[in-house]
Amino acid sequence: MNMKQSVIALSIALAAPISQAGEVEVLHWWTSGGEAKSIGVLKDMLEDQGHSWKDFAVAGGGGESAMTVLKTRAVSGNPPSAAQIKGHDIQEWGELGFLTDLDGVASAEKWDAMLPSVVSEVMKHDGKYVAVPVNVHRVNWLWANPEVFEKAGAAVPNSIEGFFAAAEKIKAAGLIPLAHGGQPWQDATLFEAIALDVLGSEGYNKAFVEHDLEVLGGEKMVETFEIFKRMRSYIDENSPGRDWNIATSMVINGEAAMQVMGDWAKGEFAAAGKKAGEDFICAPAFGTADQFTFNIDSFAFFKIKEGDNVTAQKNLASTILTKDFQEVFNLNKGSIPVRLDMSMSAFDSCATAAMDSFKATAESGDLVPSMAHGMSTTSYVQGAIFDVVTNYFNDDNANPNEAVDKLVRAVKSAL
Ligand code: GAL
Repeated sequence: MNMKQSVIALSIALAAPISQAGEVEVLHWWTSGGEAKSIGVLKDMLEDQGHSWKDFAVAGGGGESAMTVLKTRAVSGNPPSAAQIKGHDIQEWGELGFLTDLDGVASAEKWDAMLPSVVSEVMKHDGKYVAVPVNVHRVNWLWANPEVFEKAGAAVPNSIEGFFAAAEKIKAAGLIPLAHGGQPWQDATLFEAIALDVLGSEGYNKAFVEHDLEVLGGEKMVETFEIFKRMRSYIDENSPGRDWNIATSMVINGEAAMQVMGDWAKGEFAAAGKKAGEDFICAPAFGTADQFTFNIDSFAFFKIKEGDNVTAQKNLASTILTKDFQEVFNLNKGSIPVRLDMSMSAFDSCATAAMDSFKATAESGDLVPSMAHGMSTTSYVQGAIFDVVTNYFNDDNANPNEAVDKLVRAVKSAL
């Protein structure tokens, strides 16, 4: 190589990574121990590709605060590259014209063949990919501390009546039966687990997907509200405002026996070094062993200025669906991979049970979208349901028949 050639070679070598390196700014609400570890995996993988990561974390489980902040940023013409947006909200952002088309990456990497159609449909707006799924969470789980059960001489329940029997014993032993955080989305998470059992999968879908007013106002819904209220007496008085991961830590440290929460709770057990089946038990909530309430996390991608940041944005989209990312991220997060073509050998018994159930319920019709996590309906209807559910739960004198009437009226006016 002569001098001129080596200068050219050197300048190409130096220029290549620099000209491709961009920045991604990513909005999310993953700030608990397990969640932060999980999103850290994505940051590391992006940085390994030479890009820089600007973290835009807005604390608050369930993402309500994050969505408020995102709206302000997007409306002021300065959206992040990607934001944690899920379910029906993806369509709402798509309608407003904020999202970018990822079909180039999607067709090159064959996303349609890789993803179950129940997932890919949600990620598309006007037939084009605008979002990328990261995982599948099962929401209808009950997390239990076996030592607490042993102390109280109680058995981990697999039915609603079993829950009350165990809760009585645990209370009598001076321990907290149910760890709960009094926030609307957590109230709704507990409520929908009861509704799934009482209404059955078909009734659940009629109520929360189709908004069938007869089911929303029916006997079974009254029963759901009654059971929901009975559970209140097994929650400690410090629950108002408590974050979900603080409730999980009460189960981890043996202060409380159980929590009804999606499997992001497992991310907290894992981050605390606890082992499934030994230190903690995962059981389908109440009588819902053959049912699966799904919550799919995803990132929607925004239209941003052309240039290196667009390259970084595309690399981010493609990284999310790699097998490497899917495995490490979901091991930390407590969820299962969204790709069905992956080996589950590195995953624990809760995750393999979730994957088996995900596949089986997709066939049986018992795979239902989570209302509490924005999968079953619009944010307007969801907000209306949250208000009724939370107000009822927190009012000692509330009447279940009146709550059901309110639910019908609230849903009707939000449609
Ligand atoms: C859900 C989200 C989960 C989990 C949870 C608590 O909405 O889908 O991934 O992080 O909030 O923050």
